[in-house]
Amino acid sequence: MSTTPARTYRIAPSILSADFARLGEEVRNVIAAGADWIHFDVMDNHYVPNLTFGPMVCQALKPHAVTPAGQPVPVDVHLMVQPVDALAQAFAQAGADLISFHPDASAHAHRSVQAIRAAGCQAGVVFNPAAPLDVLDWLIEEIDLVLIMSVNPGFGGQSFIDSALRKVEQARKRIDASGRDIRLEVDGGIKAGNIRQVADAGADTFVAGSAIFGQKDYAAVIADMRRELQK
Ligand code: DX5
Ligand code: ZN
Repeated sequence: MSTTPARTYRIAPSILSADFARLGEEVRNVIAAGADWIHFDVMDNHYVPNLTFGPMVCQALKPHAVTPAGQPVPVDVHLMVQPVDALAQAFAQAGADLISFHPDASAHAHRSVQAIRAAGCQAGVVFNPAAPLDVLDWLIEEIDLVLIMSVNPGFGGQSFIDSALRKVEQARKRIDASGRDIRLEVDGGIKAGNIRQVADAGADTFVAGSAIFGQKDYAAVIADMRRELQK
């Protein structure tokens, strides 16, 4: 019988649900509350039916992505844009640490991954709820992150789609078989009440927007999530 190695879990609050009038402060507050990464959702009103923020906002927030002791906290940019490459480059220059894109939004997904890494960032690929994982057969040697959508991209505050758990299990198998150090992140509808189940399916990194920013006490929510993950 094989044993599962202990995983380092990361919580990545999505500032999509933060107060946009006070974004810098929100980033600092959620980091002080225990965030491991800052998840930055870029929507273009084309690939998804919503419009958020661009590279200039990322650049403005970058100095705020630090712990109270001054340690930098990774900025995890989730591109929901089509096409991908020009904006990916702009975000690399704006201080992104990780850049993920939807392979179906790029004419040449492999080239997009190479360009993101050449720009000095970690590269991730994102899978919508109805998307198969097939492109991983051809990209797994090149990527640093797999992001499984557990809602349809475009909006915060939606309900978790259960079939995403099966996809997380499949992605975990592929990552383990690759022997590479690849993060498995899940995005959409995550809260303290279901995070354990998502971890059991094989995820190690959890995006949460409304579950954290919808409450007054961010630290209490993040502590609840970590408590669940320790069970
Ligand atoms: C949705 C975004 C998510 C969103 C998650 O398209 O990619 O990152 O902020 O929001 P919640 O956690 O509220 O489902
Ligand atoms: Zn996201």
